[in-house]
Amino acid sequence: MTKTYRIAAIPADGIGIEVIAAGIEVLNALAEKTGTFRFRFDHFDWGSDYYKTHGVMMPADGREQIRHHDAIFFGAVGAPDVPDHISLWGLRLAICQPFDQYANVRPTRILPGITSPLRHVSGPELDWVIVRENSEGEYAGVGGRVHQGHPEEVATDVSMMTRTGVARIIRYAFRLAQGRPRKLLTVVTKSNAQRHAMVMWDEIAAEVAQEFPDVTWDKMLVDAMTMRMVIKPETLDTIVATNLHADILSDLAAALAGSLGIAPTANINPERKFPSMFEPIHGSAFDIAGKGIANPVATFWTACQMLEHLGETPAADRLMRAVERVTADPGLHTPDLGGKATTRQVTDAVIAAIQGDNE
Ligand code: IPM
Ligand code: MG
Repeated sequence: MTKTYRIAAIPADGIGIEVIAAGIEVLNALAEKTGTFRFRFDHFDWGSDYYKTHGVMMPADGREQIRHHDAIFFGAVGAPDVPDHISLWGLRLAICQPFDQYANVRPTRILPGITSPLRHVSGPELDWVIVRENSEGEYAGVGGRVHQGHPEEVATDVSMMTRTGVARIIRYAFRLAQGRPRKLLTVVTKSNAQRHAMVMWDEIAAEVAQEFPDVTWDKMLVDAMTMRMVIKPETLDTIVATNLHADILSDLAAALAGSLGIAPTANINPERKFPSMFEPIHGSAFDIAGKGIANPVATFWTACQMLEHLGETPAADRLMRAVERVTADPGLHTPDLGGKATTRQVTDAVIAAIQGDNE
């Protein structure tokens, strides 16, 4: 019997609209090729334009509308004329946090045909998965501002970490590391300077490590971690870090792998009480929006993550093979990779590669 997956598509802003459209085409082509499942996409026009008309980024019952979908396929939020904290908290974080998508998973590899800015690094030396804590920490939203505009103005953003929140993300990362061939985990910290929450983070890491005797793990201060990523990328495999630390490290990782235009991310609720959300890491990129030159590869890669989450691993592998066939051809690189290809050309090439894949 053909299974139907119900996917909530929220392209939102800027190039999000172009790459999600490309992703849907590719997923439909993949379903057709595979023959054992299909997709039903429900489209939601939430985002900054919606905000300009309605004063909110999504309707009050928005989460209820997507609560029972199998997954959320998300583009990007952010528009030049809407303050970033409004668009972010009004849509992306308004989904991630209440849906308890606490594990943000960011794979990084140098895909075939793509050049890393690191000399001597061509592929196998850089194959990482960054696990980002996605529900609390520096993004807890705790804080405030008083006496705004006056000389005595005070503002705070309090990073908040809970034992439950830390233990579950570290356990998730150990489990993920355990499932990868090298069984290697690096726990990123800053417990030398942040002497409360990050010390608890370290303690919990050591406790959880006991459950995974077959995983080799080490601890790295976040500042030193940036150097290690550049100088010794081959010594890393799975990485776990706090919300903000991993936000920063994942941009570095994306740049080292060749472009932010290929970097995907999955916001996972591992308990599956809520749908998980899949999105490219790049933002709405208004400077190139509407030009048809956005790189759809990050969206295709996150579609692979979505397929894995849905349990369609062979289809995910087929899609990744198709993507790699296409990136291997520099004639199919978009401008972010130094090429001249359009979103349309890359999408058509990936669809053709799916159709021609008979493995
Ligand atoms: C990311 C992004 C977001 C974040 C921005 C858009 C707020 O940089 O997903 O990494 O900081 O979480
Ligand atoms: Mg970021």
